[in-house]
Amino acid sequence: MVLTRPKSPDIQALYQGPEAFKHIEALTSFGPRVAGGPAEKAAADYIAGQMENYELIVEIEQFPVTYFEDLGATLEIIDGAALSPNILHFSPSGEFTAEIVNCGLGFPEDCTPDVAGNIALIQRGELLFWQKTQNAAAAGAIAVVIYNSEPGNFMATLTFVTDIPAISVSLENGTLLLDLLEITSVTVHLNVETVISESTSQNIIGTLEGTDPDPSILYLGAHYDSVSVGLGANDDASGVAAMLEAARVLSTKVQQVKTTLKFIAFGAEETGLEGSENYVMKHEAEVRNKGLGMINLDMIAVGETLLIGSMGLAESSLVNYTSDKAAAMDIYWQPFAPEARGDHAPFETVGVPVVFLYQIHDPWYHTAEDTPDKIDIVTLEINGELATTVMYEWA
Ligand code: BES
Ligand code: ZN
Repeated sequence: MVLTRPKSPDIQALYQGPEAFKHIEALTSFGPRVAGGPAEKAAADYIAGQMENYELIVEIEQFPVTYFEDLGATLEIIDGAALSPNILHFSPSGEFTAEIVNCGLGFPEDCTPDVAGNIALIQRGELLFWQKTQNAAAAGAIAVVIYNSEPGNFMATLTFVTDIPAISVSLENGTLLLDLLEITSVTVHLNVETVISESTSQNIIGTLEGTDPDPSILYLGAHYDSVSVGLGANDDASGVAAMLEAARVLSTKVQQVKTTLKFIAFGAEETGLEGSENYVMKHEAEVRNKGLGMINLDMIAVGETLLIGSMGLAESSLVNYTSDKAAAMDIYWQPFAPEARGDHAPFETVGVPVVFLYQIHDPWYHTAEDTPDKIDIVTLEINGELATTVMYEWA
C-alpha cells in the first residue's frame, strides 16, 4: 500500500503560541545565558529535556569557548569628570593611572611613541576593535579607550582576547577628552574588571528520522545563548521556543516525512557564531551532501514586520518558498539580505539553501530590556507556524 500524506495537516491549529511562550519564560528564568556560563548550561539542559519529552533522538555536542564576565569599569579624569565607559567583550582586567594620548583611528602610524606606558584614545571606525587595540598595545599602550563616531556609547566585542584592556565611551565623552587634550595633558584613573576563563558550550541536536532509505536533512536552528546585559527573551529565546514548539508538533502530531528533520539549538552565537560554525565544521560532509535546507529563527517575536532572506551565497529556493507561504498566510513581510550575522551563515557558506526569519523592529535588542513581557505571543505563534509549515512541506 502506498501511504500518501496530507499536504498540509492543520499545523496552524496544532501550533500553540502560548506553549512556545512557556519556553521563553523558562529560558529567561536562568539569567543571562552567556556562552560558557552556568545559565547557558542550564538552558541547554532544559532544551535537551524538552526534546526528550517529544521523543526526538537527542545529542549534545560540546565545544570549547572562552567564558567572559563583565564586572564593570570606571574612568575618571583626575580632578575632573567621571566618564561612563562600557567594557568591550573579551577585554582583560587592569587598573591604571596614566595619561590619555590621541591615537586617531588606531592605525599603526596613528600610535605615536608617547603612547608607551599611557592610555590610547581611539576613534571608532575603519579597523576592527581587536586590531585597534592590538596596534596600540604594539606601540606600548597599557589600555585603550574607543570613542563612538555617533552620539551615545556602544557595546561591542573584540572577538578575541586582547593584550591590554579596551573600553568604549560615547562620542560626547570622547570629544570632552579631545578638547581637554588641546589645552593640557590629561591624566585619568581607569579600572576594568572582567573574568576570562576557558569553558565549554554545547549544541543540542534533536533528530526526527526521515522515511527515505538515505534521507536528506532539513535543519531548523536558533541560538539559545544571550548577551550578558540582558535575558535575551527575543534574542533568541523566541527562536528556540518556536523551534521547540515546531519539534513538538512535527514529532507527535503529523505524519512522518521523507526527509530527516534536525532541530538544533546553537550555543555561543553571540560570541561569533561559534556553535553553528562548530556544527558545520564537525559535520561538513553531512551538511554539504545531505543538507536540503536550513531555516534560522533569530528574534522573531517583537516588531511589526517579518524579514525573510538569505545571504545570496546558495540557491534561493527556500527563501522563495517561504516568502510565497508567508504571503499565502497573510503575513506582512519584506525581503532582506542578512549578511553573516547569524547561525545561517556557516550553512550557507558551504552551499546549503538557507532562509533567515527575523522580525523588525526590536528597540530592546542587546539591552537589559529584552525581557519576556516584550514578547508578542501572536507574532511568536504566526512566525513559528510559518517555519513549521515550510519545514513540513519542504521535507
Ligand atoms: N540576532 C542577532 C543578529 C541580528 C541582529 C541579525 C539584527 C539581523 C539583524 C545576533 O544574535 C547578533 O547579535 N549577532 C552578532 C553577530 C555575531 C557574528 C557576533 C551581531 O550582529 O552583532
Ligand atoms: Zn540573535
